[in-house]
Amino acid sequence: MRKAAGKIVIGLAVTAGLWFGAMALDFPPVFQGLFVGFALVGVAMFLLLDVPHTNGPTGWSATVSIIAFYLVLGLGYGATASLWPQFDPEEEREKIAKILEGKENPLDPWRAEEITKRIQELDEKAKMLAERLQSLGGEQVAVAVPKVAVQPPATSTVSADSGDLMKLGEEQWQLQECYNCHKLRGEGGKKRGPELDNIGSYLTVEEIKQKIIDPKSFMAEGFEKEWEKGRMPDKFKDVMSDAEITALATWLHTFQNTAVATPKPIKKK
Ligand code: HEC
Repeated sequence: MRKAAGKIVIGLAVTAGLWFGAMALDFPPVFQGLFVGFALVGVAMFLLLDVPHTNGPTGWSATVSIIAFYLVLGLGYGATASLWPQFDPEEEREKIAKILEGKENPLDPWRAEEITKRIQELDEKAKMLAERLQSLGGEQVAVAVPKVAVQPPATSTVSADSGDLMKLGEEQWQLQECYNCHKLRGEGGKKRGPELDNIGSYLTVEEIKQKIIDPKSFMAEGFEKEWEKGRMPDKFKDVMSDAEITALATWLHTFQNTAVATPKPIKKK
């Protein structure tokens, strides 16, 4: 009897250790319960070892009872296991593939900025060349040459990517329904938020990104009340990938129409 009491004390100590240990290691509660359950089964087994010998079955009846024992145990395990959440490996693999696909997306913020910068540089060079040619050799040359000078690098390396970037940016404008609150190119708005046609003159791509990620970080001048109330949703960082935000910001940055009175953004944080 004393031996059994000792075993119970040790068993309970181990059980408690597992309970708190699992908690300290941030195991989900399900696992905590599972560990404790196993420990209690272990204690029971430990106690069974001390049960005095009986003259159990022999021969055929012994074989049958062992098989019956394992059958009951197996069915019990199978039944409880089927109650747990089931995972389909194919489904999990698809999810992982999707995540990895996003990672390989070429539209990372560094490349996006690099690409727009290169396009702007090329564009300026082309304009300069055209002007110089015009001043040197009359119209015929001037019309023909800039096309040749700009096109090869533009189509082969740069514009394919940047074209995608711009397309993705505009797509995001539609998908995220920014137009519900912002007028752009004379469309949308309903006067809830500022008209954005000149936002590119005020904010860099990075700053526009920041406004999308954290709308409270800037305030449009004259929109104090809307800013206070957090009218611009705070959800975009959760529903858009970094690449999508970059594309949208890069696309918005190209809007530099000074004829439109986009309110000045004021830094608030
Ligand atoms: C529910 C309405 C609403 C939606 C949707 C919304 N905004 Fe806004 N946004 C506002 C309001 C109101 C302001 C002005 C107050 C402020 O600065 O927070 C603003 C300000 C801005 C500004 C600063 C403008 C300036 O002149 O300083 C930018 C940039 C901007 N929003 C971009 C976006 C983009 C990009 C989206 C879509 C991803 C978007 N907004 C979706 C309401 C909205």
